[in-house]
Amino acid sequence: MKRRVAILISGRGSNMAALIEAADASDFPAEIVVVISNRADAGGLERARASGIPTVTIESKPFGKDRAAFETVLQAALDQHRVELICLGGFMRLFTAAFVQRWHGRMLNIHPSLLPSFPGLDPQGQALRAGVKISGATVHFVIPETDAGPIVMQGAVAVADGDTPETLAERILGIEHRIYPEALRLLAGGRVHLEGDICKTDGSIRTGGVLVSPTAT
Ligand code: GAR
Repeated sequence: MKRRVAILISGRGSNMAALIEAADASDFPAEIVVVISNRADAGGLERARASGIPTVTIESKPFGKDRAAFETVLQAALDQHRVELICLGGFMRLFTAAFVQRWHGRMLNIHPSLLPSFPGLDPQGQALRAGVKISGATVHFVIPETDAGPIVMQGAVAVADGDTPETLAERILGIEHRIYPEALRLLAGGRVHLEGDICKTDGSIRTGGVLVSPTAT
């Protein structure tokens, strides 16, 4: 039985699109049953509809700071679609600890940095200002703290001297689209388990791949 997944978005939804595409494969252990946006103008909604995925918009703005009231409506939509797992894809709204607890071990997020480095806003700019030579993306379980939680998968890219936040974001996005479907495949396939704050993967192997940056001619 495929696990039933909701993707929550606030914007263009390129990670959402990567997840939808991966879940199209007959042997993928999850199906995307609904895309939920907290903004009516999220570009991803149109992309989801074009793929035949049901969409729900729950504008969060009218709820103001009342996160719990927003989450009551959100939970009702999740229940209605019998959602088992949640993937956040650029969902720019914080949750209450109670909601996070309810979805403990069943809600993933992706962040464009190698966490725990550079959580929060503008992670690519943060990476450039810190002068790191390697950055990347992280898929992690959601905990009450923002952009933190047990790490399921990471992918790395080299940072070039001439990078801008935009060029680095573009390169990292390529990695995001690879690792998010893979992380969901592992979770939905029952191949990851939590040991406290650490996520372990059954059958995980050492790939031996190394990334050295910079390389100079
Ligand atoms: C992605 O880069 C994602 O990693 C980031 O927002 C972007 C959404 O793009 N998420 C965060 O920064 C979470 N803190 P998308 O809508 O095209 O998937």
